[in-house]
Amino acid sequence: MTTKIAPSILSADFSVMGETIKKLEASGADLIHCDVMDGSFVEPITFGGQMVKNIRPLTKLPLDVHLMIEHPKTQIKFFAEAGADIITVHYKACKKISDTYLKETLALIKSYGVKCGAVVNPDVPVENIFPVFPLCDMVLLMSVFPGYGGQKYIPEVTEKIRKAREYALAIGKGDMDIEVDGGVTLGNAKEIREAGANVLVAGSTVFNSSDWARTISELKK
Ligand code: DX5
Ligand code: ZN
Repeated sequence: MTTKIAPSILSADFSVMGETIKKLEASGADLIHCDVMDGSFVEPITFGGQMVKNIRPLTKLPLDVHLMIEHPKTQIKFFAEAGADIITVHYKACKKISDTYLKETLALIKSYGVKCGAVVNPDVPVENIFPVFPLCDMVLLMSVFPGYGGQKYIPEVTEKIRKAREYALAIGKGDMDIEVDGGVTLGNAKEIREAGANVLVAGSTVFNSSDWARTISELKK
């Protein structure tokens, strides 16, 4: 499978976001990863649908909206209408509400014609989201605890990537997107890809490098 790189705009300078989006596209990014934080599910607050709406006309790249928020079902409409191409929601935020909430939220995302995905934190077994694999266009495995960029990759996640790819193959969805988010560097990207991930989120690795195009192409090698 070809590797796709999804730079996370969490690490960008918000005062020049428009230019940044264009520069990411010119540098070979495959998706734009938008980290939405609500100050409750995770400590920081980042941005809402308005950001997605404003960057939508600036790029042809898919907007990959990662919702780190409580009650995600209440917000789907805003992000779908703002132009998200894919929306991912956290297993943990859904499980708190009810056993069926994750399934319902994924179905709601699909009802807007938007791709959907489920996310698990590093301490949640990937098996917990196996029941929703058939509904998902993508699964997102967190390789740091969500909330901040620039953290260190948790190596135990590599085994979870393998399990996720194996299970996707076993249910006839071998080409499903498996995204890894947090602490992806030039030093561990190969291990992550070989375990079966094909979408790598990269925040600080891209934004702290002087040559974004080169860093993005090296993450794929
Ligand atoms: C963490 C966010 C990540 C983060 C990745 O809560 O979901 O997308 O920005 O940043 P790096 O690549 O710096 O770990
Ligand atoms: Zn993210």
